[in-house]
Amino acid sequence: MANVLIVDDDEGLCYSIERALRNIHKVFTATHSESAYNILSNNPIDIAFIDQRLGKESGTEILKEIKGRFPKLPCILMTAYGSSETILESISQGAADFISKPLETDGFLHLIEANVVKKNICSDDYINISELEYPPNVFIGKSPQMIKILKTVATVAATDSPVLITGESGTGKDHIAKIIHDYSNRSNHPFVPVNSAAIPRSLLESEMFGHVKGAFSGAYQSKKGKFETADKGTIFLNEIGDLPSGLQAKLLHVLQDGTIEKLGENKLKKVDVRLISATNKNLDEKLESGSFREDLFYRLNVFSIHLPPLRDRKADIVELSKFFIKEACVNLDKEVTCVHKDVFEILASYDWPGNIRELKNIIKKSVIVSSRQTLEPDNIVLPKNKEAAKSLQNLKKNLYKEYREHSYGDVLHRAFDDIEKEFIEDALKECKGNISQVAEMLGISRVTLYDKLKKYSIKAHSD
Ligand SMILES: Nc1ncnc2c1ncn2[C@@H]1O[C@H](COP(=O)(O)OP(=O)(O)OP(=O)(O)O)[C@@H](O)[C@H]1O
Ligand SMILES: [Mg+2]
Repeated sequence: MANVLIVDDDEGLCYSIERALRNIHKVFTATHSESAYNILSNNPIDIAFIDQRLGKESGTEILKEIKGRFPKLPCILMTAYGSSETILESISQGAADFISKPLETDGFLHLIEANVVKKNICSDDYINISELEYPPNVFIGKSPQMIKILKTVATVAATDSPVLITGESGTGKDHIAKIIHDYSNRSNHPFVPVNSAAIPRSLLESEMFGHVKGAFSGAYQSKKGKFETADKGTIFLNEIGDLPSGLQAKLLHVLQDGTIEKLGENKLKKVDVRLISATNKNLDEKLESGSFREDLFYRLNVFSIHLPPLRDRKADIVELSKFFIKEACVNLDKEVTCVHKDVFEILASYDWPGNIRELKNIIKKSVIVSSRQTLEPDNIVLPKNKEAAKSLQNLKKNLYKEYREHSYGDVLHRAFDDIEKEFIEDALKECKGNISQVAEMLGISRVTLYDKLKKYSIKAHSD
């Protein structure tokens, strides 16, 4: 049953609609705008039907006012003449649909079904998420660990001190860094992330500190570094554990006296930058082996925030999942309103080696394959083998890092080739060298397989 509001100055018409619908829905009627606003303010109305003209009042004006006060309420315009201009105008003012006079009961029932019932009512085994709304850059997490972290975030945001964020990959380090910036009094100034692991070492110094024209071969123009770009704002240094030692010394300089030195320029320049750094590596080991400077570590680690892996805060999975379902719906232009309760159980039973990022990706895939407005347990496809998922993730990370360091520029081709070669070798072993079987298993033709064997100099002995 839905709460339906009819706004029409024709009392007889209001009465006949009320009679036609009252066995199925609860009907409220208003013969002028003030009474409509009154009803809307005091009752949980699900849908409003508004006449195109109420005496001297214009239906489209009333609709505009109602949408301003109750933006989510579906409003349907009742038109006598069906003029396309009025319809277009009302749709542009936010009308969900229109219905032409003479009015038929079936027309009302159909519109209520489409705009209210289907949208908002989930059966017992489902959880309704249609009403959930999230502001941009929201922080999700009410587990005791996350509440504690939020308190630290509030404390550090109010200061200018460096913060070191640690945690496994995908636990939300970038996300927290941005939130600290947004809640600091630097929020009107830039937030500049620098991912030192993704920038070739040879370019990192110029990327961070900038260079002047002619500072090195290829420096045709002078360039601002990220520190200068972040002036008055926050710089976020990702993967700080990978910072080469020369740059560690330069960074220490910034922290000690707030100055930077562009490559090729013998001049120090003042910058006013708040530094947040992050790492998913064990910095203790790097400190012990001497590959990370202790003095720098203490400067960076004035405040530290450790993000626990998702498997240790399973209490957050339901809320995070709801958030990612909504986010995926917006990005994919889908509408999931009801989520089967088992979906959350399935998600909570998994260990999430890739943490929040993995949860987000799996939810996105599940929303893509969901066919109706409901998300079903079948839509969730978790990696079968947790260890395999973990090792695949490590493999990807290591490969990427290694290729980047040794053969920048051709990273993708080399990575593809190496993986392809390994797959073929494994398949050959599994099929004991039977080429037909290998080709079938890999989903390629025998001719293509022979080409690849030649390309990778793999010897296949039998067929
Ligand atoms: N508490 C949270 N609330 C909402 N979304 C979050 C939260 N934490 C993380 N996310 C989202 O999860 C995804 C992964 O988080 P993020 O990129 O911050 O992880 P990370 O720790 O920086 O990973 P990596 O170590 O691989 O860089 C992002 O899309 C982020 O917006
Ligand atoms: Mg990150």
